[in-house]
Amino acid sequence: MSAVWLKLVTVLCFCCIALGTETGGVLWKKPGEPVTIQCRTFSDQESLSLKKGLKEEHDVLFKEGNSAKDTIAKEFTGRLQSHGEFPNVSILIKNLTSGDTGPYWCIYTKFDPKSGQLIQMKGTGSVLLVVTDSSDSMKQCDPASNELVLVSVVISAAVLLGIIMGFFIWIIKTKSSRRTAKPRRVANNDVYEDMRGGTLRR
Ligand SMILES: *[C@@H]1O[C@H](CO)[C@@H](O)[C@H](O)[C@H]1NC(C)=O
Ligand SMILES: *[C@@H]1O[C@H](CO)[C@@H](O)[C@H](O)[C@H]1NC(C)=O
Repeated sequence: MSAVWLKLVTVLCFCCIALGTETGGVLWKKPGEPVTIQCRTFSDQESLSLKKGLKEEHDVLFKEGNSAKDTIAKEFTGRLQSHGEFPNVSILIKNLTSGDTGPYWCIYTKFDPKSGQLIQMKGTGSVLLVVTDSSDSMKQCDPASNELVLVSVVISAAVLLGIIMGFFIWIIKTKSSRRTAKPRRVANNDVYEDMRGGTLRR
C-alpha cells in the first residue's frame, strides 16, 4: 500500500514540476545518454545561468554575453558544452547519470540602470530531466501513471470539497451563534428588549 502511495506522490510531483517548467516539460533519459537544453529568450539580456534544483539552488552553467568563457560546475566539467549565439543557447550535457535528475532552469539576468539592480527573468527551455535505467516504471505519460494521476486528482478534489464544506459550515455556525448572541447583549437595555420581544411575539 505504501509503495502505491510513494509512486503516486512521485508521479504527482513530477507532473506538478512538469507543469511548472514553462515549455520544456519532462525529458526521460537513460544513464550515459546526452541531453540538450535549449534556453531561449525574446528580450535583450546580459547573462545566462543554467540552474538546477527545485529552488534553483545549484549553478550548473554561467555564461556572460557572448564571451567564450563559460563557468561550469565541477560535476559537469568535461561533459557540458554550450552552443549558439547568446541569448539563445543550446546546452549539451553528455554522459548523464541518475544524479543529474532534477529540474533545470534557464535564468537570464540583466542590469537595470534605472533601479541600479540586476533583474532576473526566466527564459523558455526549462526542463525536468529524469535519468533512469528502468524504462517501464513511472513513465509520466504511460496509461497506468495517468490513471494514478486521475485517481489522485479525484481524491484531492474530494478532500478539497470536504475542506470547503467544513469551512462553510463553520461560517454558518459562527454567524448563527453571533445572531443568538446579539439579543443577549442588548438584554440589559429595556427598550430594546421590549422591541425585540414584540417582534419575536409576532
Ligand atoms: C532567440 O529566440 C527567440 C525565439 O526562438 C527569437 O524570437 C529571437 O529572435 C532569438 N534571438 C536571437 C538573438 O537570435
Ligand atoms: C561516463 O561516466 C562514467 C561514470 O562516471 C565513466 O566511467 C565513463 O568513462 C564516462 N564516459 C564518458 C564518455 O565520459
